[in-house]
Amino acid sequence: MLTKRLKAITDLVPNNASVIDIGTDHAYIPIYLYQKNITTNITASDISSKVLEYSLENLKKYNLDTKIPLVLSNGLSDIQRKYDVAIIAGMGTHTIKSILNSPNIPDTLIIQSNNDHYKLRKFMMELGYKIDREVVIHDKKHHYIIIRYIRGFEKLTEAELTFGKSNNLEYLNHLRETYQYLYTKSKDKIFLNYINMLDDFIEKILDC
Ligand SMILES: C[S@@+](CC[C@H](N)C(=O)[O-])C[C@H]1O[C@@H](n2cnc3c(N)ncnc32)[C@H](O)[C@@H]1O
Repeated sequence: MLTKRLKAITDLVPNNASVIDIGTDHAYIPIYLYQKNITTNITASDISSKVLEYSLENLKKYNLDTKIPLVLSNGLSDIQRKYDVAIIAGMGTHTIKSILNSPNIPDTLIIQSNNDHYKLRKFMMELGYKIDREVVIHDKKHHYIIIRYIRGFEKLTEAELTFGKSNNLEYLNHLRETYQYLYTKSKDKIFLNYINMLDDFIEKILDC
């Protein structure tokens, strides 16, 4: 049984695409994709050989050790072939950016960063990728932002870079409450500025 976060990631994978899960760790994503027949053309990779021993144990549990190749690689650096889709989840934006500094990046990327979403969205825009879907998952007190990118150009506004394109009102209201709390505590005008930006942003969404 996948967590809500992992399930939401797999929901964004196109049927029958060739997929590489970079930083697979437990290999739950590849196992689920294979078992549900979303795609059987999936490679699991990780930078750590220790981690891959654990991934292998999990693949064996589901009799998938001969079906899902495991590859030791720092990002895409030791990956020879090109995939339709790369999944990069559960890492920070700094690591994700270093992984994407590669000549053979797939045309579709499913990314879930743990931090710095503004920096990630800006980096992706400059890399020549646009947001195809963005979802926010609320699971066990955390909000997880999951973005499917495809190649293309878009000019995100400052508000879209900051708050994303999910239009998830529960998440946006949660952000507003957080900024309100931080402003009350610190009286730092930066939080007031975020609250004003957010109010305009939410109003535009509700107008649509
Ligand atoms: C927190 S786990 C996330 C596991 C899984 N993707 C998820 O979302 O639940 C991060 C994994 O990324 C791997 N990792 C970190 N940097 C990496 C890199 N540059 N290339 C490949 N894997 C990396 C780590 O070894 C670790 O297994």
